Amino acid sequence: MPRILIIDDEESVRFTLRHRFSSRAWDVMDAETAESGIRLADEFAPDVILLDMRLPDKDGMETLRELKKRNCTAAVVFMTAWGSISSAVDAIKLGAEQYLTKPVELVELDALTDRIIETRKLKIENLYYQERMDHPVVGVSKEIQKLHRMIDLMAENADTTVLLFGESGTGKELVSREIHRRSMRRERPFLDINCSALPETLLESEMFGHERGAFTDARELKRGLFEVADGGTVFLDEIGEMPLSVQPKLLRVLETLSFKRVGGTRDIQVNVRIIAATNRELGKAVDAGSFRDDLYYRLKVFPVVIPPLRERRDDIQILTDYFVGQFNVSLKKNITGFTPEAMSLMTGYPWPGNVRELKNVIERAMVLSKNTVIDPEMLPREIVGKWEERHDSGRSTRVASDDKRPLRDVEREYILDVFTSENKNRSTTARILGISRSTLQEKLKKFGIT
Ligand SMILES: Nc1ncnc2c1ncn2[C@@H]1O[C@H](COP(=O)(O)OP(=O)(O)OP(=O)(O)O)[C@@H](O)[C@H]1O
Ligand SMILES: [Mg+2]
Repeated sequence: MPRILIIDDEESVRFTLRHRFSSRAWDVMDAETAESGIRLADEFAPDVILLDMRLPDKDGMETLRELKKRNCTAAVVFMTAWGSISSAVDAIKLGAEQYLTKPVELVELDALTDRIIETRKLKIENLYYQERMDHPVVGVSKEIQKLHRMIDLMAENADTTVLLFGESGTGKELVSREIHRRSMRRERPFLDINCSALPETLLESEMFGHERGAFTDARELKRGLFEVADGGTVFLDEIGEMPLSVQPKLLRVLETLSFKRVGGTRDIQVNVRIIAATNRELGKAVDAGSFRDDLYYRLKVFPVVIPPLRERRDDIQILTDYFVGQFNVSLKKNITGFTPEAMSLMTGYPWPGNVRELKNVIERAMVLSKNTVIDPEMLPREIVGKWEERHDSGRSTRVASDDKRPLRDVEREYILDVFTSENKNRSTTARILGISRSTLQEKLKKFGIT
């Protein structure tokens, strides 16, 4: 619902406009004085403010200045009984959106406010897509914001070795590709190899290549990953699984940017950046003797940690929107989103498989869904199970010991419940919850409830 604030000292004007906008399904508030209007603008965060030029305590210009000072983002439309060109110009200069003369033509006002809302929507959407284009690593949490800064820093320092830590499915590969894509190495190759997928000798010849006749099957000379990627980036996935025999050779590449092909004697010089990734604590592998400590210390000069999804639940909503958008295109669907119940299950679930699991769950739900919205029935058992148990036993605040959840999840779910059952009316929701509208507003934003 778009929100409008009417600031006018004339009761009849407020009455007419309030009525007009309520019947057009706007959320309306009004104020009689500049002072109370400014206060309401803070609390109510309107999209549009209709502002009378003449108020008992302040004039319209002063009021507008005060609103701007408080970073009010609403589009301000002036109304005046005696319109003069010069004050209109001043008002626009000060950042007002429009200037109408009284008596205000209601049809004209409808068209104007609709247009304002439409442009604001577009602006927000553009910003959103722009940001997304800028960063395919989607997320709004402070953890992801920090990660974006790290990616930028690593992109700028295109020779620095990076060590990425993150559970399976957190986006290690995505992040390393992004570091490469933003760096000045972007025109050169990005090559990756999984250190756990190949037996020792094969891994070695993949990485460093081999000379002709180096071993029985080596009929031809083969250039390795480091040679082919010259000038670019090499991504070593699951570095913790790299066999001990290969580790000193990698250390040498890191220290001197040179190596020998298998079976070769000549040193080959390359210029590559190495990004290594692991989903386990390398320190433990060092303690256990399966990973060389000198290599570990050399690698971890720039550790970058990607936290698991359950530690940044603020990202679940935006990731969901993002994947729904992606799968709408690839699956030729027209899904608008999740029902509040389904979304609440999504945000409450611990996501052991992280973003990859989230993506798979969304794809599956979208394939199954015959509707334009995803409801809990489309979600897999492990996500729905706990919810059913909780709801079957009625709304009890007593919780089984294996079902303890962070307070913020409970808070989110409860706010969502009340908000939905009150038909998304902010005022009544705030009243029921016993918090102010602005606090509610903050919480809705924080939990990504719209
Ligand atoms: N922040 C994100 N924004 C958008 N997509 C993401 C994000 N994080 C992960 N993904 C997507 O989730 C999937 C898994 O990511 P990725 O393969 O990079 O994870 P990983 O950490 O390398 O996992 P593994 O350790 O299992 O190899 C990919 O499809 C990736 O594009
Ligand atoms: Mg991976």
